[in-house]
Amino acid sequence: MSRLIVISNRVSPPRTESGAGAQGGLAVALAAALKEYSGLWFGWSGNKIEEFTGHIDMQRAGGVTTATVDLEEQDVDEYYNGYANRTLWPLFHYRIDLAEYDRGFGSGYKRVNERFADTVAPLIDPDDLVWVHDYHLIPLGQELRARGLKNRIGFFLHIPWPPSRLLVSLPNHQELVESLLAYDVIGFQTEEWLESFRHYVERELDGRVDEDGTVHVRGRTVHVAAYPIGIDYAEFSEAVETPVAKEACERLRGSAERKRVVIGVDRLDYSKGLAERFHGYQRFLEKHPEQRSEIFLLQIAPPSRGEVATYEEIRENLDELSGRINGEFAEVDWVPIRYVNQGYPREELAGFYRAAPIALITPLRDGMNLVAKEYVAAQDPEDPGVLILSRFAGAALQLKDALMVNPYSPDEISDAIFAALAMPKEERIRRWRGMIESVRGEDVVAWRHAFVSALENAKPAVAVEPA
Ligand code: G6P
Repeated sequence: MSRLIVISNRVSPPRTESGAGAQGGLAVALAAALKEYSGLWFGWSGNKIEEFTGHIDMQRAGGVTTATVDLEEQDVDEYYNGYANRTLWPLFHYRIDLAEYDRGFGSGYKRVNERFADTVAPLIDPDDLVWVHDYHLIPLGQELRARGLKNRIGFFLHIPWPPSRLLVSLPNHQELVESLLAYDVIGFQTEEWLESFRHYVERELDGRVDEDGTVHVRGRTVHVAAYPIGIDYAEFSEAVETPVAKEACERLRGSAERKRVVIGVDRLDYSKGLAERFHGYQRFLEKHPEQRSEIFLLQIAPPSRGEVATYEEIRENLDELSGRINGEFAEVDWVPIRYVNQGYPREELAGFYRAAPIALITPLRDGMNLVAKEYVAAQDPEDPGVLILSRFAGAALQLKDALMVNPYSPDEISDAIFAALAMPKEERIRRWRGMIESVRGEDVVAWRHAFVSALENAKPAVAVEPA
């Protein structure tokens, strides 16, 4: 069996007993794939050094080998904070108003992708399968080909693919998209993002995409498809049953004093629609004063990408907004929003989800959103909570039984909270059953099997003339 080489910006080694808890679902899933195929996980260490040396730090933990490199400060500024998070992230989340186009970012992005390719190429054997992840590393496949790699190389995009009319605002967009043609398989989270990609190929590259997902552009053929990522259902359902989860559930329930908890858990990011969510919740408080002290909103929002100005601004904005809403509506014994800027281990989160009869997950744009799926997985089948979900999250295409809202509309958010509070148990159970089927069946194990088998079945990287 071929080995699997996973390459992503962040590398999250399997946790050890002492570091329990902080690992995300994707990391758990990729670690499982790496164990099955034996292999290697390569990426940035998260550390900065004075001068790039290409020194690889190899570690082995929990049956998985990780190989990480340090980057120079300028690399981190231009590649990670710059092109990845000030250019591509906002643009791919439809926020061209926030996207910054700076040549320095573009050259830093190229340089780091070259450095990654130089460093990882010697670690790859001829029949290894190579799986590259996310927007930080779009041109990596091309760089690996330039270094003579003939392996099957796949790419999975975890975030949305923007409509062509937005993407063309990126200087050198064509070069970036063409670099994707070096892969054998390209995966998107949903049919919607795949459709935007297909549109771009046909309109901007004069290519063709067949019904079966074969892309033909200038003699290259590539397989494209939607592979919606899921949670590790088995692992997460175990997490809900742990003493840590049960204790967290009791802690939140106890502190709620019979009030119903509306929960939101998101990285502090403008794509998550937190300000819009607070406004929607405020509208609910205004329209339904009799319900005010019946509920509270628990918003967990760990800060992220703090070196990027837009993230600093959103943080300030939310501090102010939550303070204002709390100041306006709070009573001596009740605060409408508990706004928490720290992250929690998975087991604790599982307990919090279980304690909350409503989840309010309203991103303005999201590749998938695994919190929505985790919330569903954490519910008591006999008495499940209600998921209020943005129609603009990738997960909305699978979780059709959620209460769907337009996250830009405070009235829709307010009406959905009202409907969730009043929803009879039979309806909650019926909706939950519809959702859990997808969460359980279309889980992360199915996702990686689907992607890896598409990669295994990909034809070798030879040029084929379009028919
Ligand atoms: C999104 C991206 C991931 C990224 C994560 C956390 O989910 O798709 O690639 O790792 O956000 O962001 P960070 O910048 O902290 O890695």
